[in-house]
Amino acid sequence: MAPRPIIIDCDPGQDDAVCLFLAMSSPDELEILGITAVAGNVPLELTQRNARQMCDIAGRTDMPVFAGCSRPMVREPMTAEQIHGTTGIDGIEVVDPVTPLRSMHAVEFIIETLLAASEESVTLVPTGPLTNIATAIDKVPEILSHIDEIVLMGGAMREGGNRTPSAEFNILADPHAADIVFCCGRPVTAMGLDVTHKVLSTRKRVAKIKALNNPVATATAGMLGFFHRFDTKKYGSEGAPLHDPCTVAYLLQADIFDGKQCNVSVETQSRLTLGHTAVDFWNVTDRPHNTNWIYDVDPDAFFELLTGRLARFGD
Ligand code: RIB
Ligand code: CA
Repeated sequence: MAPRPIIIDCDPGQDDAVCLFLAMSSPDELEILGITAVAGNVPLELTQRNARQMCDIAGRTDMPVFAGCSRPMVREPMTAEQIHGTTGIDGIEVVDPVTPLRSMHAVEFIIETLLAASEESVTLVPTGPLTNIATAIDKVPEILSHIDEIVLMGGAMREGGNRTPSAEFNILADPHAADIVFCCGRPVTAMGLDVTHKVLSTRKRVAKIKALNNPVATATAGMLGFFHRFDTKKYGSEGAPLHDPCTVAYLLQADIFDGKQCNVSVETQSRLTLGHTAVDFWNVTDRPHNTNWIYDVDPDAFFELLTGRLARFGD
């Protein structure tokens, strides 16, 4: 079976970085057409650099990496250095990447790549604010028919927000972009905090990854060793949730997740609940089922998959 063509749009961020490693570990199943960076956890000049450094560590200096939007579509920019550190990938040494930054804007790359692809053939995997994806859709709606599925990390239902009481960071950072994506009419699978908070990088799990003793696993252990601090203090749980790798894990092994077709609508006006994802889990409205809302995962199976794939970088 031919590998599934994907574009990963990200804002590294330690968890985005691990997501990139997981995707690059599986070339027989996933063909990464390109990595696009967006402003999010840290400003764009850092997210694009961090994405390129992950390609270096994974031995993929050939990977096409593009810089995209440096600010949200409407609201004022926001970042998350308090969680990810000032570099965005605190926990490892930051070095100037060898992997080049391509000159084309990420939005143009997404548009050009999708228009050149056959119908319903490319999967988009956004793990940061949805600015690049929404801007591409807004600019050239014709790209939509070329999208097979959008598998994103964002939103929250029962778990509540992680940046405000009612909003998760990726959606809050660009709610207007999120509204465009959830309403775009193509299949969306959403990994919200309800599921990502179930995959915690505990000491035991990180130790198993570190013991793999290859450059990717060592970088992963280093980043997770930093990334857990904020969540551990905030939630009292051990280990940071591996939000973004849930997207690629779903592409590799969907059967470890549970989801339900629902309507997900995004609040774009309210000052109090801006960025809230209203998940109609019990069908109390007649709104269209626009999202496969993922609400559960087998955490042990998730970490078995992740650890097994990271081990491949030692071969
Ligand atoms: O709320 C978690 C999300 O926000 C993750 O994608 C993390 O990387 C940050 O972007
Ligand atoms: Ca992210």
